[in-house]
Amino acid sequence: MDNRPIGVFDSGVGGLTVVKEIIHLLPHEEILYLGDTARVPYGPRELDQVRGFMFEIVNFLRKQDVKLIVIACNTATAAGLQDAQEINNVPIIGVIEPGARAACLSTRAKKVGVIATKATTKSDAYRRIISTMDGQTEVFTRACPTLVNFIERGELEGGRIKEEVRSYLGPLIEEGIDVLILGCTHYPLIEGLIKKIVGEDIQIINSARVTAQEVKRILTAEVQLRHSDRPPRHRFLATGSGRLFFEIGGWFLGQEIEETETIDLHSP
Ligand code: DGL
Repeated sequence: MDNRPIGVFDSGVGGLTVVKEIIHLLPHEEILYLGDTARVPYGPRELDQVRGFMFEIVNFLRKQDVKLIVIACNTATAAGLQDAQEINNVPIIGVIEPGARAACLSTRAKKVGVIATKATTKSDAYRRIISTMDGQTEVFTRACPTLVNFIERGELEGGRIKEEVRSYLGPLIEEGIDVLILGCTHYPLIEGLIKKIVGEDIQIINSARVTAQEVKRILTAEVQLRHSDRPPRHRFLATGSGRLFFEIGGWFLGQEIEETETIDLHSP
């Protein structure tokens, strides 16, 4: 038994898609969520800079005494998950490997599409990892640089975002993919819209869901699940504005976010 919280972070509101799935699978666990809203978006930045942000946040979460860290951000996972795992003794998981594994198991056509930020696309992380899992599967990656801004503005529907999504997905559909990985944790917030555009024949992999399953597997194997009579109390931290946590979090997580705390990553 281990009653310490699970630390989860992302550049902004996207990692809440992972929190939602963890709460669904592990309703007794406590979550400490950090959104780096002062520096969102990560996608247009250089991977080295994002790696620096990731180390700062991992150090901060370790000081908060979390039992497991989930990098609920593809861009930060691509930038340096392995480095973070090597130098930390707390378990750290990212979102790329679970999604890639689920895609390899699902594709019949052996053609997988990935939509992601510019930095994740540039890192080629999905293609590299899928080639180690299944050398026969082709990977088609498409950067969608405007989507995170739409989502961080709370613009999740309407003609403008629909047009953008349609133009990003068109070339992938033409390649004949039968599986599409949502390679950015912001995208499950518009999964319904994406589904309408790709249709029934393309299966969507929401890495948030498979990452939550990985969290459950690790905590169960390490006998680290929380046991308490007290209901879990989640905390939501932001380095900048936490506005969207209130606006989206409530309907999205199925529970009100009553409070967000603004923090300085460098204060003790
Ligand atoms: N949600 C993040 C990801 O999965 C980052 C998006 C961004 O900040 O550009 O890549």
